[in-house]
Amino acid sequence: MQLYLDTGNIDEIKEIAAWGVLDGVTTNPTLLSREKDRGDYRALLKEICDVVQGPVSAEVTALDAEGMVRQAQSLSKISEHIVVKIPCIPEGLKAAGVLFEEGIHVNMTLTFSPLQAILAANAGAAYVSPFVGRLDDIGHEGINQVARIREIFDNYGIDTRIIFASTRHPEHVMQAALIGADICTMPAKVFRQMVKHPLTDIGLKRFLDDWEKTGFSIE
Ligand code: E4P
Repeated sequence: MQLYLDTGNIDEIKEIAAWGVLDGVTTNPTLLSREKDRGDYRALLKEICDVVQGPVSAEVTALDAEGMVRQAQSLSKISEHIVVKIPCIPEGLKAAGVLFEEGIHVNMTLTFSPLQAILAANAGAAYVSPFVGRLDDIGHEGINQVARIREIFDNYGIDTRIIFASTRHPEHVMQAALIGADICTMPAKVFRQMVKHPLTDIGLKRFLDDWEKTGFSIE
């Protein structure tokens, strides 16, 4: 499963990219609004793309298909790595069809149901992002929607990639992997939680204490 960071923060991106485990980044207007002091939006996206060297989702804000297409064309000029996030609404489907013809990759965002995912795939979206955490927040089992999308896509050999999104905690990442999501996008906090295990810390301390007693040196 590929791992993406869900952030607009360049420091977090550099931190996780340095681990060598970062496949891509997803941003959204809310995440980027937290970076408004970083200067120019396009420059920030360019910097993110240069660090990640993989797919970077950037969202349109227009609500009509024509406007979405115009914004998508403009965003895609920033870098070959840009994937354009389009909301799963009728105008978004229209725009996705046009962008598919133009070879611009679309991530159909704000997707909450398998039916929306089918439409996204049929419109030509390269990625679909079911928002699991937000479904959980309203008392649904978000993971069930991802499982259904996986099953449907497998039934028909649909190659639209499923991004498990709105990830809240490491257990979500586990669910994403077990269900066969292609990608899981998560905040930096979840990456840090994933690598942490108390037995790793205890074990490491014990090894180092024991090594200290030997007086040996590796170099
Ligand atoms: C995905 O692409 C979205 O940016 C994101 O996962 C939304 O997550 P949230 O529900 O934590 O805002």
